[in-house]
Amino acid sequence: MNPSMPRTSMHVLIVDDEADVLRGLCRVLESAGYAVTPASSLGTAYQALQQQPFDLILTDLYLGDEFGYDIAGAVRELRPCPPVIVLTGRPTFDGAQEALRSKVADIVVKPVDAQHLLATCRRVLQETELARRNQELEYANRVLTSVLPRTIEIKDPTTSGHAARVVGYTDTLAQRCGVDEEDRRSLRLAALLHDIGKIGVPDHILQKPGALTKDEMDVVKRHPAMGYEVLAELKDHENVRNWVYQHHERWDGRGYPNGLQGHEVALPGRILVLAEVYDALAEQRSYKAPWPIPKIVGLFREEAGKQFDPDLAHMVADGLDRMGNRFFAPDRGLLF
Ligand SMILES: [Fe+2]
Repeated sequence: MNPSMPRTSMHVLIVDDEADVLRGLCRVLESAGYAVTPASSLGTAYQALQQQPFDLILTDLYLGDEFGYDIAGAVRELRPCPPVIVLTGRPTFDGAQEALRSKVADIVVKPVDAQHLLATCRRVLQETELARRNQELEYANRVLTSVLPRTIEIKDPTTSGHAARVVGYTDTLAQRCGVDEEDRRSLRLAALLHDIGKIGVPDHILQKPGALTKDEMDVVKRHPAMGYEVLAELKDHENVRNWVYQHHERWDGRGYPNGLQGHEVALPGRILVLAEVYDALAEQRSYKAPWPIPKIVGLFREEAGKQFDPDLAHMVADGLDRMGNRFFAPDRGLLF
């Protein structure tokens, strides 16, 4: 197969009011494997657009007393929206600027040789495909980072806003501890999704007003492992899954699910453990009022080396002592 051929038969709408040029353009594109539809005016082009979708539109700039780039505005609402390449023999500054302003994908100045025209078509199609994939990823990302945490909060209303706050606390702590940007990104995602496994905990347990029985507690303790499973498809985010899995481990090995000790949980994971507890203490819950800062500081010092990484716990206790809850505020403009 000719490597310059498009992979599948891409459909191109070609608009030019000069019959010879239109025929020539159609020949060039067809010989490169594109399916083409010729149109000698904008009106004919709009009719064609109503009848079938196109992957690309190639149009002359001046079409009698109309402008080819107007088609870019007309197709903007179409899904998928085909990119528009404008051809012009008169590259006036005003004309080029106007075409750019209406967001065409590219402008090609005539006379143009076939190779250059085909290379431009290929590049514009590739860029459009890339933009579409990015849009899909962005959409998937929005689902992951907004819909999933919201699902937990609906299931467990006592923790409203918990995940979003823990993201802020973990990130501030990670920054203070010199965690690199890539791990910080993973940690923010882990913080946002750390309780996602609660989806698998029955409502009557999650929303039980009183103390839980041992059996009920055992069910709740499965949520880190369930979170790990829920996130199984995050194949390139093993750290995110691990830190979600480990967010109830303790420095002294008495946590769950695996009773990991000390540095067996990496620093970002230990940061998440502490930040998650800080939020639980600092916020009001149905069973308790928010703890004042000195009481939280006392607990962090007491639990240094037990529940928490001792260095981390003392650093946070000192910071809270000195700065109150501003210690966790982002963009503080202070180093320590
Ligand atoms: Fe949890």
